[in-house]
Amino acid sequence: MSKQTLILLYGGRSAEREVSVLSAESVMRAVNYDKFLVKTYFISQAGHFIKTQEFASQPGADEKLMTNATLVASQQIKPSDIYEENAVVFPVLHGPMGEDGSIQGFLEVLKMPYVGTNVLASAVAMDKITTKRVLESAGVPQVAYTVYIEGEDLEEKIAETAAKLTYPVFVKPANMGSSVGISKAENDEQLRKAIELALQYDSRILIEQGVVAREIEVGILGNQDVKTTLPGEVVKDVEFYDYQAKYIDNRIIMDIPAKIEEAVMEQMRTYAGQAFRALGGCGLARCDFFYTADGQIYLNELNTMPGFTQWSMYPLLWENMGLPYSDLIEELVKLGQEMFVKRESHLI
Ligand SMILES: Nc1ncnc2c1ncn2[C@@H]1O[C@H](COP(=O)(O)OP(=O)(O)O)[C@@H](O)[C@H]1O
Ligand SMILES: [Mg+2]
Repeated sequence: MSKQTLILLYGGRSAEREVSVLSAESVMRAVNYDKFLVKTYFISQAGHFIKTQEFASQPGADEKLMTNATLVASQQIKPSDIYEENAVVFPVLHGPMGEDGSIQGFLEVLKMPYVGTNVLASAVAMDKITTKRVLESAGVPQVAYTVYIEGEDLEEKIAETAAKLTYPVFVKPANMGSSVGISKAENDEQLRKAIELALQYDSRILIEQGVVAREIEVGILGNQDVKTTLPGEVVKDVEFYDYQAKYIDNRIIMDIPAKIEEAVMEQMRTYAGQAFRALGGCGLARCDFFYTADGQIYLNELNTMPGFTQWSMYPLLWENMGLPYSDLIEELVKLGQEMFVKRESHLI
């Protein structure tokens, strides 16, 4: 039997490009090479597509993928040159221009099967404000919030926020991930500054009620038949997980399964499935919750391309459910192929 070609698209234009390289390197090492042939393509910070390594067998431990620091411009290709009949693409890309539906749309136009959520669910989940509105309609609990759109009266919004929410609040660009551009504000003055900072990343800003809570995450896998994992906890030793704490200091400790009551676990799994369906998701997502000392559960966000290194929360949640990393990749490829057939069948 000939091998299935798996195309890893990694890097990308968003601030999360370094995480993407780590995720892609993990995938290329873990793939079952009896079944797969792996081709890799780097998307540079400038948005150029660059052809990188191909692997027919497991790469050595010191094999590295390209980064913006080691970029070889002469290997640049046209984006559509990644096309290959029957190949499945794994867009291991996080953040805007990767996880937000744009790459997914590009792959659909190319008529290529791909791993993960479709255009709609990717775009909605990437926009924290639209996600809030979808969750509201699905009856999934979340923290109170206000919204500031660039061009609106800033002082009016600060007054509205001070009336509706209680400091501290969290200010977030709607479209970001990995804590980029997010800050905590304790008063009107800090709120003004936090909005200014967030506006550097997006013109849509979400202002959220700050809560003191444990951070609990649920893995989601499936198309029509959606499966969820037992939750895991991101144990905190810093005030909040900014980019530095998450990826540079590596200060994350994971507790899998989370040490919480069974009923709370069940409730979170139910909310995660409900949210994923409301979003129209397929493939995968990691659903992140806040769990307060007084027992409140709030859904914080869904990540449709969660950190995917072998030691990231999402793969570890599945490993805890008895699905090892390399089998998880295989399952995701299968789900991607299934969605491709489904999508094509709808084009009547
Ligand atoms: N409303 C909130 N209350 C308390 N902490 C928050 C709140 N929103 C975000 N945080 C903290 O900031 C981190 C990043 O926020 P999040 O919304 O998850 O953005 P990202 O998409 O960057 O992961 C969270 O993991 C949490 O530690
Ligand atoms: Mg988060």
